[in-house]
Amino acid sequence: MKGIVLAGGSGTRLYPLTKAISKQILPIYDKPMIYYPLSVLLLAGITEILIISTPRDIDVFKELLGDGSQLGIQLEYAVQDEPRGIADAFVIAEDFIGWSSVALILGDNIFYGSNFGEIVRKAALLTEGCTIFGCYVKDPKAYGVVEVDDELNILSIEEKPEYPRSSYAIPGLYFFDHHVVEISKKVRPSARGEVEITSVLKDYLWNGTLRVELLGRGLAWLDTGTHESLLEASNFVEAIQKRQGMYVSCIEEIAYRKNYISKDQLLDLAMPLMKTDYGKYLVDIAETTKGGKGRR
Ligand code: G1P
Repeated sequence: MKGIVLAGGSGTRLYPLTKAISKQILPIYDKPMIYYPLSVLLLAGITEILIISTPRDIDVFKELLGDGSQLGIQLEYAVQDEPRGIADAFVIAEDFIGWSSVALILGDNIFYGSNFGEIVRKAALLTEGCTIFGCYVKDPKAYGVVEVDDELNILSIEEKPEYPRSSYAIPGLYFFDHHVVEISKKVRPSARGEVEITSVLKDYLWNGTLRVELLGRGLAWLDTGTHESLLEASNFVEAIQKRQGMYVSCIEEIAYRKNYISKDQLLDLAMPLMKTDYGKYLVDIAETTKGGKGRR
């Protein structure tokens, strides 16, 4: 399975923060926002990843993450010249996807919880159809909403409904077979002028190949759409990291634990960060944790 991080959009709800830089480069506590979705794909075992961003911002991501070889993965980049919607990412990524199945994660979605690595690793085994998730939220109106019956059969999918039929929002993490490209090409723009991901999901629903997994209360799905929620996400990450001493969405650590890089490579990554706790944490992981490519 391949992966896409969609880090586009104009970010106007966060102005003036995002007037000159990408929303997905903003800090969530101690690391750029894009580390968080990227870490989800790494946890899923996906190592071929396309990052899609705006013509203005794409170079910043290239500078931050390069070709991915330092993490033992392959990163490619593509531009979305207008914010045409999430489904447009699959049209842009047509050549990248080819005959592969593909996971898409939105560059501003943050997940944290026990067993989450296992959940996404299993989801990434998909070869047919589509898997989405459902997260219980207090106010689902701002999201795609999935309605299910007791047997988890999906009854409806709606985008930002005024009167939601359920409290399960669909987070920005989706697993598809390669048909997603041809389906996305057929999607017509919605009233807000975007090709909606929920239109693609409805197509899979009508074909009987959409499945949903409800994520329980042990899973935190954080929003970063407003100044308030951005700060809350930072505070959340700080609280977890301080209390547990374990980092949230540390891509270097995940690459090491997944054996994509060796101990020496992890230490090399830590070197320029040694003025920070982040760098010291990486050294600590390298010295105390088993993992790493070529370990004897
Ligand atoms: C988008 C999707 C929506 C999904 C949400 C998750 O909304 O359209 O279905 O629930 O991402 O973050 P948007 O960010 O465009 O408001």
